Amino acid sequence: MGYYSVEFDSLKMKEKLVFATHNKHKLEEIQNILKNYEVVGLRDIGCMEDIVEDADDLQGNAKIKADFVTNNYHINCFADDTGLEVEALDGAPGVYSARYAGEGCSYHDNVVKLLDALRGAPNRRARFRTVIALNLNGKQYFFEGIVNGKILEEEHGNGGFGYDPIFQPDGYEETFAEMPMEIKNKISHRGKAVQNLVKFLDSIR
Ligand code: IMP
Repeated sequence: MGYYSVEFDSLKMKEKLVFATHNKHKLEEIQNILKNYEVVGLRDIGCMEDIVEDADDLQGNAKIKADFVTNNYHINCFADDTGLEVEALDGAPGVYSARYAGEGCSYHDNVVKLLDALRGAPNRRARFRTVIALNLNGKQYFFEGIVNGKILEEEHGNGGFGYDPIFQPDGYEETFAEMPMEIKNKISHRGKAVQNLVKFLDSIR
């Protein structure tokens, strides 16, 4: 009996799951974690469009992206959206983190704008939050990942991207831009949201 079940498992087709992203690095990261699924990106299903993310919260944007793919390509899909939420700014830039300094701005423009907005502010508490929306066999699920920390007064480190040089996670002396990627991925907002997604997918297989 054991023989047959092993044989059957190894022949079982991997289920296809679209990750609604054009970002090659994010896709590779997820493919390395979700080994039981054939995870493909938007390009792989012929979707070259920029999906308009115009919701006013992270959950809304993640849902827009996942629904766009499922409704147009009739396939299971998940999508993520991330924001940096700064306590002294009532949660800004939040869902607008990518274009905080204006349409077409660079990561560095955003960092400069945030440092200016917090100049002299005693409360520098902030958190990154990621929401993942998953459309699986006609049902929708959401997963969240949060990392708490603070915004430093100047940039430290050259690694990572976005707000990494000014974000220092709680319990660490370095910013995200100063730590090895493996450590960041373990403790980060996106890392935690993905771990929650993986736990769920593993639990239903
Ligand atoms: P997205 O939803 O992953 O595209 O993230 C939106 C924006 O949040 C990005 O353009 C970055 O400015 C910022 N961001 C997201 N994740 C990170 C991160 O891990 N480190 C620093 N900034 C990030």
